[in-house]
Amino acid sequence: MEPYAFKGRHVVDVNDFDDEEIQHLIEVCSRIQAMGDEARGLARGKILATLFWEPSTRTRLSFESAMYRLGGQVLGFSEAQTSSAAKGETLSDTIRMVALYADVIAMRHQLEGSALAASQYSAIPIINGGDGAHLHPTQTLGDIYTLVKEKERLEGLKVGFLGDLLFGRTVHTLVKLLARFGVHMSFFAPEGLHIPEYLRAALRASGIHFYEQEGLDDECLKDLDVLYVTRLQKERFFSEEEYLRKKNSYLVNKETLAKAKQDVLILHPLPRNEEIHVEVDTLPNAGYFRQAEYGLHMRMALISLCLGVLP
Ligand code: NCD
Repeated sequence: MEPYAFKGRHVVDVNDFDDEEIQHLIEVCSRIQAMGDEARGLARGKILATLFWEPSTRTRLSFESAMYRLGGQVLGFSEAQTSSAAKGETLSDTIRMVALYADVIAMRHQLEGSALAASQYSAIPIINGGDGAHLHPTQTLGDIYTLVKEKERLEGLKVGFLGDLLFGRTVHTLVKLLARFGVHMSFFAPEGLHIPEYLRAALRASGIHFYEQEGLDDECLKDLDVLYVTRLQKERFFSEEEYLRKKNSYLVNKETLAKAKQDVLILHPLPRNEEIHVEVDTLPNAGYFRQAEYGLHMRMALISLCLGVLP
């Protein structure tokens, strides 16, 4: 790969990167993690804009923290009401303006395809922090880094997904990427919340075998190396009634873990509702807080590469 091959590029989808580039991202992330405080000079003098039309705590704060930890500065807004969208400004105009004020943009917007559209108007790199129920590439890249760090391999790993697999963009994006690296995937969802048909079709078209069933049973559980749990995406449900019907339909607790492999790794993109009992938090299997930290390092790596301050 050419040195500085990432400079100036957008991060809209994980499939923007080929396999070699994904490996490179993982290596750079590992290097940044090892640098610790030495990373603080990398982005000195650079500005990150965080444009969040949709609510977020973790993703926005972790982008901001990532930039501060690289020695750069941050500006932006955290809700549509405090941006010019409230005055009717279009996405493209906002992006054109902000590209004058910053060196890189991290954005989240409720519309599917918004990050791709923004990238077409932006003179500076756009990093997609989530576009509707569609994609969440920086979460996925942090997740894949988590798997490499915690399980030391991807090929042959057995990963089960449990939760709202219909509306959960972290699942959709991660499935697309894991399919490229020989991971065995199975899907366990409440009725009506299975992976979207387009994803199922894409997996089939690539000849990827996967398994699906309603809810998770002991037989399936005992085979898994990793269980990736998600909350119900209440805000994307069609009705409150529907949400209440599905609420509390799955739970991971100590009893669940007793029936799984001893070293099964429990991941969750967070925020959690009640799907993982807090009693799991103190067990070594609970990978979700470490996962959030790996995500921070991955955002530092992505910002550095897009700015061209690291090769
Ligand atoms: C996820 C998201 O926003 O899609 N959160 C995150 O970025 N860590 C998951 C969720 O909201 O459930």
